[in-house]
Amino acid sequence: MEEISLVRPDDWHLHLRDGDVLEAVVSHSAEHFGRAIVMPNLKPPVTTTAAAVAYQNSIFKALPKDTVFTPLMTLYLTDNTHPDEIKLAKRSGVIYAVKLYPAGATTNSQDGVTDLFGKCLPVLEEMVEQNMPLLVHGEVTDPEVDIFDREKIFIDTILRPLIQKLPKLKVVMEHITTQDAVRFIESCEEGTVAATVTPQHLLLNRNSLFQGGLQPHNYCLPVLKREIHRQAIVSAVTSGNKRFFLGTDSAPHERKRKESSCGCAGIYSAPVALSLYAKVFEEADALDKLEAFTSFNGPDFYGLPRNSSKIKLIRSPWKVPESYTYAFGELIPMFTGQTLEWLPSSSI
Ligand code: DOR
Ligand code: ZN
Repeated sequence: MEEISLVRPDDWHLHLRDGDVLEAVVSHSAEHFGRAIVMPNLKPPVTTTAAAVAYQNSIFKALPKDTVFTPLMTLYLTDNTHPDEIKLAKRSGVIYAVKLYPAGATTNSQDGVTDLFGKCLPVLEEMVEQNMPLLVHGEVTDPEVDIFDREKIFIDTILRPLIQKLPKLKVVMEHITTQDAVRFIESCEEGTVAATVTPQHLLLNRNSLFQGGLQPHNYCLPVLKREIHRQAIVSAVTSGNKRFFLGTDSAPHERKRKESSCGCAGIYSAPVALSLYAKVFEEADALDKLEAFTSFNGPDFYGLPRNSSKIKLIRSPWKVPESYTYAFGELIPMFTGQTLEWLPSSSI
């Protein structure tokens, strides 16, 4: 196959940041994706409908002229979120989900939730009423728990009990990294519980963090896991199961903040994500399943129409730029400087 035609994909998990980073990155997503679920972990976090509307306006402003791209906004859940905020969010028509960051789990999560069942139950019940999905960063934050076990323990102690308590709550487990998560998602009701999958958790394992020396640009959270986990995730997405869909978790951090004595978590994948997903599906001999993963399963889960326009991937090897510079810094993309096989046609 020399050309793949896809209904335009959407990115169901994206960090666009704000200010000059937003301006530097937004067109990379808009080139390939029709819509994106935009994460609310700004400083300060996007905790209200009013803040989400303002953030959406700044994204529209940062888009190059004549670019069609729809940012689907999210609210950052805190211990103090009021159920009325969920009603407002739904009525606004711009907010499509609420994000759960366990406090301390990742970048800008310090205002996140400390006690989901104790503090957030009324909000979660309102979310069921409003059919508002909960997007979950699925890691426990207890520093005593080994970092490689945090996802599995989150599933056992928080996610499974949550779904038992509120079986009608729509839940997306974000950026899954383990065989345990794959099995858990496969056991849940289709259409109610789903998972997003990043390019890095399909292509890299934890060796990639240490290949020839410390590799800060491969550091993200949840951290990369063993090869058996990577393989389980590849099998799940290439099987065609509707519960899994594309969410890059593209998370730009300025180069100096990655290459630092205390480096930030996050991989900047927006410019290469689509090529990388195609690589995964081709290597698994499953290119016929790519379009459902990139373009159907996500909107079907969210109850949104699939995109009407198309995009092409052409077999035309291209070299990933070493870096992208912008006003105040530099971003290093995933697979920096490497050659990829599939070129999205809008990049020609
Ligand atoms: O690696 C990550 N980076 N994981 C997250 O959960 C957050 C993200 C970020 O915002 O940088
Ligand atoms: Zn994220």
